[in-house]
Amino acid sequence: MVARIALFASVAAVVGFASAQLQVLSPVANSVNNVVWNCQQSQVQNFTILVANSDVKVLSGAEAIFAIEQNFDCSKALTVQQAAFVPATGYTVILANPLNSTDVYATSQPFEVKAQGCCRPRSRIVNIFERSLL
Ligand SMILES: *[C@@H]1O[C@H](CO)[C@@H](O)[C@H](O)[C@H]1NC(C)=O
Ligand SMILES: *[C@@H]1O[C@H](CO)[C@@H](O)[C@H](O)[C@H]1NC(C)=O
Repeated sequence: MVARIALFASVAAVVGFASAQLQVLSPVANSVNNVVWNCQQSQVQNFTILVANSDVKVLSGAEAIFAIEQNFDCSKALTVQQAAFVPATGYTVILANPLNSTDVYATSQPFEVKAQGCCRPRSRIVNIFERSLL
């Protein structure tokens, strides 16, 4: 929760100007499995949420995880099953036109999906969308 608040504070500083461009604010480093976008600034009503990877051997194409998502929801949590991607770097979350997923509205920063289950008690939320700190 503290990390989430800190993330919003730094994001507010970056997108403080009145931008109407849809932007993916999370996943970024240390966020939980949550997709967050700038719903206050965005003028897009709805979109499809996809996950892609720069390496076709990891993911052969962008994979839709939510067919239709409303902008006003501001964030979407993934279930462990929806977030069960092969552990690798180079993942991005894409927000695209629901009628045409090649019409990309916004792309997240690249992030890493870490192996699940390693070193953590099962009852805790797994940080699957940790981007490696450069
Ligand atoms: C998505 O937004 C468009 C306008 O951009 C609207 O026409 C359409 O009804 C919306 N679809 C849903 C499922 O909310
Ligand atoms: C889908 O969107 C892409 C990128 O904007 C565009 O080039 C393409 O013509 C669109 N396809 C359809 C069927 O509208």
